[in-house]
Formats: sequence, structure tokens, C-alpha cells
Amino acid sequence: MPGSFIRIENISHTFQNGYKGLDTINLTINKGEFIVIAGKNGSGKTLLMKHLSGLETPDTGDIFYNDISIVKKPESIRGKIGLIFQDADSQILGETVYDDIAIGPKNLRLKKDEIISITENVLEWSCLTDKKDNHPYSLSGGEKRRLAIAGMLAMNCEVMVFDEPFANLDYPSIVNVLQSLVKLQSDGKTVIVLTHELEKVLSHADRLVILDNGLIKYDMTTNDIHTIDFNKFGLRNPFVTYTKKEDLTWLQ
Ligand SMILES: Nc1ncnc2c1ncn2[C@@H]1O[C@H](COP(=O)(O)OP(=O)(O)OP(=O)(O)O)[C@@H](O)[C@H]1O
Ligand SMILES: [Mg+2]
Repeated sequence: MPGSFIRIENISHTFQNGYKGLDTINLTINKGEFIVIAGKNGSGKTLLMKHLSGLETPDTGDIFYNDISIVKKPESIRGKIGLIFQDADSQILGETVYDDIAIGPKNLRLKKDEIISITENVLEWSCLTDKKDNHPYSLSGGEKRRLAIAGMLAMNCEVMVFDEPFANLDYPSIVNVLQSLVKLQSDGKTVIVLTHELEKVLSHADRLVILDNGLIKYDMTTNDIHTIDFNKFGLRNPFVTYTKKEDLTWLQ
């Protein structure tokens, strides 16, 4: 529908070997929404978000951001849609935590005092002020993920896409990242989370989209998800309850 915030219209992506990674995807994302895109390994989650971030171009179809085509004008989303990869190391650019955060605002050619104030605010937001002079590679996995989020915030991205944000994190770090996601939405950002770890995030999400072999199989609000046969899509049912030792098995 024209006027939607993000509109993905009939996009397909076929690789050189003939494999169809995305098949006629239609998806509308509203401003300020917290949406989870789930699916088993290889279902097309990362590929779809690379299209949304302008890193891939579809064979057919189009993607609109505020009614402007990302496919025709990829520069129109520069600094607007931030993709936070699972591998936090791949996004490290600066020699220190401070520099790494400041790179975005510098590239946006902001004034020096603006760059300083944004970087200091974002350091505070992400609880990394006491690590600001450390080399990013010296941070823990959870801290690196917070640094990646901080970098996107410093560019004031309107949309933040998180690819498997809970991978390899311990319990406190998962809680910390989850708190960041919730806070981002309450600050007005549109939050998109790609994951198969539904039990960690669904409580806070507005909508769930399930991808399977490059096709959208479900797109519904999180109030309606009890009816889904999660196992069919290679996803663990997030509604399991544990009361005794035998319940802890994953073999069911
Ligand atoms: N260059 C390529 N040629 C052929 N197939 C590819 C190529 N790149 C990716 N694919 C396939 O596209 C599919 C979608 O990949 P994608 O990375 O989007 O999956 P995903 O849902 O993010 O999976 P994961 O949960 O493992 O991260 C996969 O089956 C992958 O093997
Ligand atoms: Mg992926």
C-alpha cells in the first residue's frame, strides 16, 4: 500500500546455480514496529535483510522505503537502515571503542562538536563509557554486540535489523541485548530481529514472520501465534514449559 513505511513487493532472488533464495516475497513493515523474522538455517532471513539494506538487488520486484525505491535509489537509505550482523567482528572499523562509534557520524559529515556529543551519548546508552579507549577486539562477545548497536545508533538509523542477536551470548548478555531491543522500540526505532530462538524474544515483539525455503509461510501478530506448528518450519515451539527434569529434553 502506498504510504507504508517499508514495502517489499514481489521480490525474488535466484542465485547463479539456479537456487531460488527468495520467492515472491511481499511484506509491509510499519514504523516503530518490533518484528521477528524466523526460519530454520538457510530459510532466507539474512538474504531478505540484505535486500532491505540495499546490499543485494532482487531479480524481480521492488522495495520501498517511505515510497522511495531502494532498488532504484539505494543511496536513499544511507544511514537509515542499520544491519547488525551476527559476526560482530566483521563490523569493527575503529582502533578504539570511541573511534568505532564516531566513524558513522564522521562519515555523515556532521560537525565536530555534534560528533563528540553523539558519540558520548551513545557510549553512555550502551554502557561502554568505561571501555571507550579499549580496542574493540578486546571486548567480550556481548560488549561487541552492544558496540555494533551503538554504531548504528550513532548514525541515528531509523530501522535496526539484528541478525541472530542472541547467538553465542550468555544469560546476562542475552538479557542486556533484549533490554536494548525493547528500549530501541520505545525510543521510536523500528526493530527487526532475525532469529530461530523465538522463546527469547517473542514476548516483546509485535509481529512474527516465518520464512521457509525463501517463502513467507506466516505473517501474523504475536497475539495469534499459538496456532502455529513451529516444528513444521524447523523451529522449536517457544511455548514449552519445564516443571521436571524430563521436560528439559530437546528430543521431542
Ligand atoms: N551464492 C550463493 N549461491 C547459492 N545459494 C546461496 C548463495 N548464498 C546463499 N545461498 C543460499 O541461500 C539460502 C538463504 O541463505 P540465508 O543466509 O539467507 O539463510 P538464513 O535464513 O539467514 O540462515 P541462517 O539461520 O543459517 O543464518 C541458503 O540456503 C543458502 O545456502
Ligand atoms: Mg542468517
